[in-house]
Amino acid sequence: MKTTAILLAAGQGIRMKSSLPKVLHPIAGKPLIWHAMQAIQKSTTEKPVVVVGHGAREVTQYLGDSAQTVLQEPQLGTGHAVMQAEALLKGKTDLVVVCYGDMPLLRGETLQKLVETQKKNKGPISMLTVIANDPRGFGRVIRRLDGSVEAIVEEYVATAEQLLVKELNVGGYCFDAGWLWDALHRIPRNPKKGEYYLTDTVELAAKDGLSVQATIMEDMEETIGVNTRVHLSECEAAMRRRINQEHMLGGVTMIDPASTYIEAGVVIGMDTIIMPNTFLHGKTEIGEGGVIGPNSIIRDTKIGKGCKILASVLEGAWLEDHVDIGPFARLRKGAHLGNHVHMGNFGEVKDSYLADGVKMGHFSYIGNAQIGSNTNIGAGTITCNYDGEKKHATQIGQDVFIGSDTMLVAPLTIGDGARTGAGAIVTKNVPADTLVVGMPARAIKKLQPKAPTK
Ligand code: UD1
Ligand code: CA
Repeated sequence: MKTTAILLAAGQGIRMKSSLPKVLHPIAGKPLIWHAMQAIQKSTTEKPVVVVGHGAREVTQYLGDSAQTVLQEPQLGTGHAVMQAEALLKGKTDLVVVCYGDMPLLRGETLQKLVETQKKNKGPISMLTVIANDPRGFGRVIRRLDGSVEAIVEEYVATAEQLLVKELNVGGYCFDAGWLWDALHRIPRNPKKGEYYLTDTVELAAKDGLSVQATIMEDMEETIGVNTRVHLSECEAAMRRRINQEHMLGGVTMIDPASTYIEAGVVIGMDTIIMPNTFLHGKTEIGEGGVIGPNSIIRDTKIGKGCKILASVLEGAWLEDHVDIGPFARLRKGAHLGNHVHMGNFGEVKDSYLADGVKMGHFSYIGNAQIGSNTNIGAGTITCNYDGEKKHATQIGQDVFIGSDTMLVAPLTIGDGARTGAGAIVTKNVPADTLVVGMPARAIKKLQPKAPTK
């Protein structure tokens, strides 16, 4: 059965007090609308239609080709919003799922169940409801004595008796498409606000004696919508708990989930331990058996097995297996550390490859460099890679020993097995197995070649 979602995202979100359209505000690192789109994808078969209005340009640009968009201008209510998709979808889909762009916690599985319910329903509507003591401004679900749904009444038009009803309209529906297009044209214009309410379709169906299936949801948290930044922070906290729980159930240890901030989409291997105050952002992937944190910020970084990252900041980096860094290390874009690399405190690496077994214990800056395996970078070493205009490359061979406080003035090549003395300023290429010392460095003696280390 062809099933298409219509996601409503045209409202202004006035109460957010923001220049950013509401649905583009992030939780767990991704815009609200991204979360809604994820849930939709699990329950529908066709490309979704997103109704845009306020901030249409930014929202459309964000969605790219993940959705079709239709413009609702002016915004005359949720029923009017769905009507805007009629021209695009009429005759092209059997079922229509409607949900709101500001409900990021609604799960794909919940919408899936909703679609299944509608497939079995002889009537035209299935909808989600929740029983709650705090109504949060939601519409009330009015049932007849036999339990069948009669109407949804919005809070501000509800009678005192209706206000006491604890069953609320969540804002997730599955419609029989043929019935819906016709019914939308029959919705009365609300006399108070001049809007067309999608929720009035429920009363239309009930009046025609058609069945409306209302499924009561168990997880209240899923129904949290975002109208203010207070709600945004509630959603953030709920989503963080959900993401952390999934990782823990997948075999990741968290010492303190409440202070562990992991964005949607981050991958973590089994038996890795995440220590408190750790932030994992973007496209970050961490292998098995590592220890991450405390106090680490990691973005768009790939980390292999058995790595230890203590109190460090990593961005756009790639660490192979058993890398050990920190405390207070910084890896920037293009830093690539091979197996068993050790990097201690106050080091910075950018656009460089440190091959297997490189050791860089203290206070160094390595930029635009390639460093061969098992080379030792002494404390305070700097690749002087920038001449004020251009960046230059440094090549360092394997089994090299760079003495403390060496300045490597790029472009520069240092051969395998070479050594530099403490405080050397190296301005010329150094052949293999050669020691340079002094300022500027000069060759003083040829070294005996030694057996290669493994
Ligand atoms: C709506 C429901 C209410 C339900 C609540 C759950 C209606 C009439 N009421 O109320 O029963 O309990 O959600 O959260 O549907 N939008 C448009 N175009 C418009 C108006 C709204 O695209 O002309 C979009 C908004 O951007 C938003 C969604 O529809 O994403 C819901 O609109 P909102 O005004 O927040 O409705 P509620 O008052 O929350
Ligand atoms: Ca709302």
